[in-house]
Amino acid sequence: MEKNDVLLTLDYNHLVAEVLGPEIGLTSADLSEVKKSLAKAVKDFEARRREGLLPFADLPQDAALPKTCRKLAAEVRKKFDDALVLGIGGSALGPSAVFTALRPLNHNALPADKRGWPRLHVADNVDPEGFGALLDGLDPSKTFVNVISKSGATAETMSQFMIVADRFQKALGPEGFKERLLVTTDPQNGVLRRLVEENGWTALPIPPGVGGRFSVLTAVGLAPLALAGVDVAGLLTGARRAQEAFDRTGAASQAALFAGLNWLLTVKKGRGSLVMMPYADALGRVADWFGQLWNESLGKAKKLDGSPAGAGQTSIKALGATDQHSQLQLYMEGPQDKTICFLGTEAFRAKLSIPKIFKKFNELGYLGGHSLGELLNNERLGTAKALAESGRPNFSLTMPKVGPETVGFLLQTLMLATVLSGTLYGVDPLDQPGVELGKKFTYGLMGRAGFEEMTERYDRLKPSKKFMVESSPLG
Ligand code: PA5
Repeated sequence: MEKNDVLLTLDYNHLVAEVLGPEIGLTSADLSEVKKSLAKAVKDFEARRREGLLPFADLPQDAALPKTCRKLAAEVRKKFDDALVLGIGGSALGPSAVFTALRPLNHNALPADKRGWPRLHVADNVDPEGFGALLDGLDPSKTFVNVISKSGATAETMSQFMIVADRFQKALGPEGFKERLLVTTDPQNGVLRRLVEENGWTALPIPPGVGGRFSVLTAVGLAPLALAGVDVAGLLTGARRAQEAFDRTGAASQAALFAGLNWLLTVKKGRGSLVMMPYADALGRVADWFGQLWNESLGKAKKLDGSPAGAGQTSIKALGATDQHSQLQLYMEGPQDKTICFLGTEAFRAKLSIPKIFKKFNELGYLGGHSLGELLNNERLGTAKALAESGRPNFSLTMPKVGPETVGFLLQTLMLATVLSGTLYGVDPLDQPGVELGKKFTYGLMGRAGFEEMTERYDRLKPSKKFMVESSPLG
């Protein structure tokens, strides 16, 4: 990719008043107002970055980490068929999204010689059936394990890890387990770090100040992605270009525009939901990754000054063209409370042509001779236009192709947009106080010492049978 090549286009024609009318669309007054707020948000960003509070912005400069990960991957590749990632939330969604985007979609199903790299499994749930089945399909002697947890205390990840450690140690002994283990965690704190030190396990650090959902370009993402053969240096190059574009153009950058447009649509136009709709299977998991980034970062009860915020814009995942046949009706005619963001690629890695058969049928003949990529992209364009014509705001992020640099560019742009959005809403995008209470109830229910009071609190809120309906075969 050349330096001047376009890596991402943000097209917001279908958001403006000229197209949608002044009531629904954004007026030039709206746009100039938000530009001023964005200019302040960019200044705030720069000041916090100088104070070292936004280390994610400097991750793309790290030339050493991709080398370390590639070196590790070269070793793992020689000995192992499978790489198993244990993690959840920000410790799983990033690797999963980029793996789906940048490796062949059938990577895990390919024979070893065609795949060239281990299969990658990201186990991000504790469903006994799902996790059990995954483990049953893996041969410990041929499996490399990467446990990822910044805190080292996440119940889901650590339970998975305890099961795996026990099974692998029983099968291969402590040394055998050690040879096939990488721990990715905080460089100093947490029980996982203590275990690393006690056992001499191999570990990579998650830089302090980089939270889970901003960690895809740390070892959290780069190590497992390198294990599966992803070009992690290319990914960082793309992210670096996005950071440079932001550093150069600030309030006029795509990151700032993404933040500003969505803030206007939410706060001024009452559109509290953002549907992220990729039109490429490869980009499907990026919508999941973005969902966590956007929802967990911006959904906050309090502003930084302690006043009520009620902030956030709900990110919903849809996949084109599949969800045109399930969700689109609602977006076209349902409540006027959503904005759609199309995520597209101009070129697909595979070409599949529709044969020129059944020509005598009008309903089918027109398809023959086109490729599936053409069909999918024309569905994206047609749907965007139909929504605009129906007065439904939508905008598009389009990349020329799905590759390491374009994906890296997109991820960094969206992380920057999230932090800027936090400033527009006046909230802290880096914390997640709302998930703590549920965790504490779980600790109480699981009998963790120190959380007895939570069990009592839980019992106080015990559901009454009065408000329950149970069905049985006898009615
Ligand atoms: O974004 C976040 O901070 C969270 O989603 C975390 O990534 C998630 O809770 C997992 O945390 P940890 O990496 O500490 O196990």
